[in-house]
Amino acid sequence: MLTASGTVRLSAQGQEALGISSGVPDHGHMAAVAELIESPWAVRAQPSEPMISAKDLSKRYGSVKAVDGISFEVARGEIFSLLGHNGAGKTTTIRMLTCRIKPSSGTAAVAGFNCATQADRIKPRVNLVSQDQNLYERMSGRDNLTFFANLYRAPASRVAELMQTVGMTEVAARRVKTYSGGMKQRLLIARALVNRPEVLFLDEPTAGLDPFSAKEVRTLIKDLSRAGTTVFLTTHYMEEADELSDRVAFLAHGKIVALDTPQELKLRYGQRTARVLLEDRSEHSIGLRGIDDAAQMAAWMRDGKVLTVHSQEGTLEDVFIALAGRAL
Ligand SMILES: Nc1ncnc2c1ncn2[C@@H]1O[C@H](COP(=O)(O)OP(=O)(O)OP(=O)(O)O)[C@@H](O)[C@H]1O
Ligand SMILES: [Mg+2]
Repeated sequence: MLTASGTVRLSAQGQEALGISSGVPDHGHMAAVAELIESPWAVRAQPSEPMISAKDLSKRYGSVKAVDGISFEVARGEIFSLLGHNGAGKTTTIRMLTCRIKPSSGTAAVAGFNCATQADRIKPRVNLVSQDQNLYERMSGRDNLTFFANLYRAPASRVAELMQTVGMTEVAARRVKTYSGGMKQRLLIARALVNRPEVLFLDEPTAGLDPFSAKEVRTLIKDLSRAGTTVFLTTHYMEEADELSDRVAFLAHGKIVALDTPQELKLRYGQRTARVLLEDRSEHSIGLRGIDDAAQMAAWMRDGKVLTVHSQEGTLEDVFIALAGRAL
């Protein structure tokens, strides 16, 4: 049985440093972390304030500019996705926004607080599902959650509630090492919800999941957003970004090269044409503007020749590829 009463030693990386891939936790960490974390149910940012604000944010590692002067804001309740190649700077951005690493220059503010000076106010209000599945494999799912619930001084009832939220009540008592990848990912999300974060950061939340498990995770993310959580996610799956995001930013070599709603981006980079299948099984690509196109379409329709029409609006993948030709 886990309690929050142990004595304490806390690494500088705080909660993230607690993540280990196997074994059981060092109970000594818990009270110190709890001391660092004030009540998450304290004063919150004004509704009109952005929940995330990055201003000219940069991070250098030696000669590598991992993040190179990015600026954006994310509104309360928004789902914002960061897309880009491996090494584009996505995880580094998340690490700066969750106050885990210091920017080389620029400012990161979350929930109305500045990361540089008010990280202790930010940490209770945010949480992160990181790229590593850092669960305690030899403990049950329930005990993993209980450990973190204690850290955040969340009521014991929160564990059962979260297991229910992610649909894992039935397997709560099983050791994590017996879980599938999808189950582990859902448990990680449950764990990140333990403090009822106002802003949830998800670094590639569906990487490696089968389509069904990925869909479950996406549904969970949408539900959280509907309930008012601000979501900041990274993904390599363009359809996922399109389905989930209110806005997406494309990151290339540490710089934002495009930022807009998926619809606007698709319109900007897609083609304004339709694919028309006629009765004789011939296929035609036809423009969506111009008298000639309209006349051709009208003629086919008048003669009853049209079987199907598919618009060929761009996909986010087209946007990605179009940008890749330029800047990615
Ligand atoms: N701790 C570090 N020390 C040195 N270089 C680093 C460190 N962390 C990241 N980098 C470098 O910064 C760049 C951005 O890395 P980052 O992990 O942010 O990319 P990413 O977009 O998350 O990639 P992926 O899609 O593979 O997860 C890379 O060139 C990486 O090698
Ligand atoms: Mg990454």
